[in-house]
Amino acid sequence: MQIRNEIKFILNNRDITLDAFEAEQTLLDFLRLDQQLIGTKEGCAEGDCGACTVLVGRLVNGGLKYEIVNACIRFLASLDGCHVVTIEYLSGSNGDLHPVQKAMVECHASQCGFCTPGFVMSLYSLWMENSNPSKREVEIAVQGNLCRCTGYEPIINAALAVNKFGNPISDQLITERENTIKNLSKLQDNARVVIRDSTIKSILPANIDDLADVLIDQPSATIVAGATDVGLWVTKFLKPISPALFIGHLTDLKKIEVKDDVLIFGAGVTYTEIQEYLSKFFPFLDNYWDRIAGWQVRNMGTIGGNIANGSPIGDTPPVLIALNSEIILRKGNQTRVLPIEKFFIEYGKQDLKKSEFILSIRVPLPNKDQLNSAYKISKRSEDDISTLAVGISMGVESGKIKDCRIAFGGMAATPKRALMTENSLKGKTWCNKTIYEASRMLDEDFSPLSDWRATKEYRISVARNLLHRFFLEHDLDTLEPIQIHSIV
Ligand SMILES: Cc1cc2nc3c(=O)[nH]c(=O)nc-3n(C[C@H](O)[C@H](O)[C@H](O)COP(=O)(O)OP(=O)(O)OC[C@H]3O[C@@H](n4cnc5c(N)ncnc54)[C@H](O)[C@@H]3O)c2cc1C
Ligand code: FES
Ligand code: FES
Repeated sequence: MQIRNEIKFILNNRDITLDAFEAEQTLLDFLRLDQQLIGTKEGCAEGDCGACTVLVGRLVNGGLKYEIVNACIRFLASLDGCHVVTIEYLSGSNGDLHPVQKAMVECHASQCGFCTPGFVMSLYSLWMENSNPSKREVEIAVQGNLCRCTGYEPIINAALAVNKFGNPISDQLITERENTIKNLSKLQDNARVVIRDSTIKSILPANIDDLADVLIDQPSATIVAGATDVGLWVTKFLKPISPALFIGHLTDLKKIEVKDDVLIFGAGVTYTEIQEYLSKFFPFLDNYWDRIAGWQVRNMGTIGGNIANGSPIGDTPPVLIALNSEIILRKGNQTRVLPIEKFFIEYGKQDLKKSEFILSIRVPLPNKDQLNSAYKISKRSEDDISTLAVGISMGVESGKIKDCRIAFGGMAATPKRALMTENSLKGKTWCNKTIYEASRMLDEDFSPLSDWRATKEYRISVARNLLHRFFLEHDLDTLEPIQIHSIV
């Protein structure tokens, strides 16, 4: 195995090689403190405000994909082989403003200016992908950016006006694309990267087999995928993470395929990467998915990470459980398959053995009799963690509920199925009375906690209402009158 003891990436138009740095070093600190690129701002240091937004370009299937990320929670080691683009790169050699910046000025979209570089980077990314966006597409693109002064209307107007000031075809990231691909390709050597001094700080395995080997040698290493959880352990809790085992670059963990009516994808697939497949095979998830975090976090965060962290309020487990998904775990050369609901043992405890990692996830495609929905309840509609989330999947045939799976997040110490409720539905007639009676069983299934997000009474009440909402949404033709006072 070839070992390299340095990382290499391109920062704007400069080659960077680094061989001595801590696993915990963030891209934001590197930009601002080491490189004096202070256009990228620090607001929250937890991925929530977007002030630190930069573009990261990486090779994907021979092409080059740029995505916005939060530099505050992106670790330096994970940039090996990438092109990092900061706000400073946007000004032309003669000092001209970029079309996105011109639109922001023209539409009065900046006041104190603190958030502006972050917004410009998000809108730049949107403009390159879709130069004629709808208002809703703009709103989704800036979900992860906060402005406390201007108000969002002028920013959205600026986003809709960028095309008046330039065409992405003449943008330098597009015109230089072939050259950048060539330069990034030279950095790919399939080596294992190990950054160390007296101890190992960071490891980037060469491939998936190498990952399995490294985990056997280093069972206590911290796996870092998108770092949207691990990043906060460092920036908020100052927790050391070395030796850190970075896996976000592993293409083997990013495969997505449909085989024998099952969607199979690697644990390293991000929310953004899976979205077009979900839209095709699970269109009921479109709105739900847009409400997970903001665009930057969706570009970084992986489904594997969302499962592995075992959070009771992660948004993917309730849906994956309802859809009867399985996870494949690997340790050394051995793999095992687990129904995803069995992975969550108790709060903070998952069925993940020493040296084991989540390899992939398998989700059966729904059949034509299956009714599916997913709902997320949170304090803010955009970029917020769930108070409560539910995935519901029911097979209804000839007016009878044949089978059903209902899984909640935010109702127990782990994501959990509502088994008593499910049992009370099975075999019954698909009607309002059945749903009403079953919704009472949620009290038997769950005794949720009160916390600052919601009281236990609120959670139970909303859970019942979501079951009714499911019925109403799927049964509009034969809708019976519902007495609202009887369901809250
Ligand atoms: C601003 C912000 C908003 C967010 N909003 C939401 C939201 O709306 N809904 C939601 O559900 N989550 C949200 N999150 C949480 C986060 O995005 C997810 O939990 C994310 O999916 C974690 O994936 P990751 O790749 O970033 O994991 P990491 O942070 O890299 O890792 C998380 C944990 O999983 C482990 N791990 C990662 N991959 C593997 C693997 N393949 N095998 C074994 N262990 C592994 C790591 O060791 C670590 O313990 C938000 C986070 C931020 C910062
Ligand atoms: S500083 Fe707020 S998202 Fe990075
Ligand atoms: S212009 Fe001041 S925070 Fe947005």
